Amino acid sequence: MQAPSGGNEQPWHWIVITDPGLRAQVGEYYRRSTESYLAASEPADEAGMRIRDSAAYLGEHMGDVPVLVLGCITVAAPRMMDGNQAGLWGSLLPAAWSYMLACRSRGLGTAWTTLHLRYEGEVAELLGLPGNVRQGVLIPTAYYTGETFRPAVRRTLPIHENRW
Ligand SMILES: Cc1cc2nc3c(=O)[nH]c(=O)nc-3n(C[C@H](O)[C@H](O)[C@H](O)COP(=O)(O)O)c2cc1C
Repeated sequence: MQAPSGGNEQPWHWIVITDPGLRAQVGEYYRRSTESYLAASEPADEAGMRIRDSAAYLGEHMGDVPVLVLGCITVAAPRMMDGNQAGLWGSLLPAAWSYMLACRSRGLGTAWTTLHLRYEGEVAELLGLPGNVRQGVLIPTAYYTGETFRPAVRRTLPIHENRW
């Protein structure tokens, strides 16, 4: 709730999907999309292989996750505007990340996913979303088991002083 949004309009909507039948149907769209994604990608190294395995596992199990949180945003027109969309998505995505951090502090695990968006229209119909609502992120949420968390490996921060 404390995340920023353009004009403080808070245009976000959260669909909390708990119904097993709906989860299974969203999960099936996610599975299909993951299948095509994995068929088109070739991991370059060991770390890439682990991410691929993790994505493949989630692809098979998205529908089994007890709570799927779908972060949505209301838009002026159903057709996405041309040009830079940072102002639009910047009014949803920080709140989604806040949700994930809040979950973590309460013993819940989450993952940022978007692969289901290949079937955004089908999922919108399934969940009865109005035409002026677009989807930005699907966040599976569940209590995690194990405590083996550690900082993720990231590239060094590409800061450019004054100019590129
Ligand atoms: C915009 C965006 C979309 C993503 N979509 C997916 C996705 O659909 N499925 C998936 O398994 N991972 C997806 N990821 C990657 C995972 O959220 C995660 O970052 C990745 O598995 C690496 O794990 P780590 O962040 O713990 O290092 C996405 C990440 C971002 C930022």
